[in-house]
Amino acid sequence: MKTIKLKNKQINYSILIGNGIYKSTGSILKKYLIKKRVFIICDLVVFNLYKKNLSTSLKRSRIEAIFIPIKVDERKKNIATVSTLSSKLLSFNIDRKDTIIAFGGGILGDIVGFTASIILRGVNYIQIPTTLLSQVDSSVGGKTGVNSSYGKNLIGTFYQPKLVIIDTDVLNSLPRRELLSGYAEIIKYGIIKDIKFFRWLLKNGYKVIEGNNNAKIYAIYRSCIIKAQIVEADEKEQGIRALLNLGHTFGHAIESLNEFKKNIIHGEAVAIGIRFATKLSYLEGYISNLDYNKIVSHFNDIGLKNTLPKNLNNISAKKFVSEMLKDKKAIDESLTLILIKRIGSAFIKKDYSQKKLLKLFKEITK
Ligand SMILES: NC(=O)c1ccc[n+]([C@@H]2O[C@H](COP(=O)([O-])OP(=O)(O)OC[C@H]3O[C@@H](n4cnc5c(N)ncnc54)[C@H](O)[C@@H]3O)[C@@H](O)[C@H]2O)c1
Ligand SMILES: [Zn+2]
Repeated sequence: MKTIKLKNKQINYSILIGNGIYKSTGSILKKYLIKKRVFIICDLVVFNLYKKNLSTSLKRSRIEAIFIPIKVDERKKNIATVSTLSSKLLSFNIDRKDTIIAFGGGILGDIVGFTASIILRGVNYIQIPTTLLSQVDSSVGGKTGVNSSYGKNLIGTFYQPKLVIIDTDVLNSLPRRELLSGYAEIIKYGIIKDIKFFRWLLKNGYKVIEGNNNAKIYAIYRSCIIKAQIVEADEKEQGIRALLNLGHTFGHAIESLNEFKKNIIHGEAVAIGIRFATKLSYLEGYISNLDYNKIVSHFNDIGLKNTLPKNLNNISAKKFVSEMLKDKKAIDESLTLILIKRIGSAFIKKDYSQKKLLKLFKEITK
């Protein structure tokens, strides 16, 4: 089992990465609990697949577990779901010595983390992410939240988990499309910070998708290390953490304009967003044509689409850009975008003019 520690003045927790470890969750958890009772809020699909193993392991360690399964949907990642979940937890008389566990993908993890941060003004919580995307990204770093009719993830908190347990075994039941969606965030780390990792992905990325265990562990480990370093340096996104938003201002606009329907899932929107950001970086003269092609061809080779879906194909530049302005990163009609100098080195471009983006929109998206 590999361990990564996240540590600075405010944060201190571990990420455990291994294969088959959720079966020994009970003995791992023991030292993290104040009281031997946990609320396991889980994705319904995950509940049906893994509840038995998890409860056996918890029983063995004499931990009382209350399971609360939830049907997960990006359109239900909202404040109403948080309210229902909070009432449910209160109906069980949850107290501050209890621990909440998020057992599922990123949608579930974001809802549960947010609920844990506000219920009784904050209850300890642990992430056991079950999708590739949540293992490499959303379970680490403490961003929690839900969507609003005004845009994605606009209601939320920074609230760090006490522990993250990543088990690559649970990825065996994950559909290929979901693996690819998580892979988009993995490539993101290579592009923003680590050319060596990007090169490794060019060679070995397909093994991650095909389920090779060593490749999965290495890709997850490398991604979590990069994310941990960035979060340690800038937990509240005052600076460098914004690099993790590469492709996301575009991606969130795509998801919102698509009304969070399932024909585009988060990682797919991010993959399209990364291509747009890369093309813009090229048009602005920051990145070479060679690097631009390397990124786009890798998305194509791995099987991640990076063009807008048919229903958004004819969207006007004005509508798209005004959706981008709703993103948290927009200040006074100009945008903060993450652009790329070369593979392995991204930067924060502040005050990118809306007018300029409108002008280049056709070129970026074609
Ligand atoms: N907080 C953050 O820092 C952060 C970072 C990146 C993304 N996110 C958020 O994460 C969300 C996307 O997360 P996601 O891609 O994990 O999607 P998800 O939570 O919808 O999970 C994807 C699908 O896989 C199913 N599933 C989960 N685990 C499974 C397993 N082991 N086997 C079989 N099926 C399984 C789920 O039921 C769901 O249908 C978005 O809402 C995005 O905004 C948050
Ligand atoms: Zn993301």
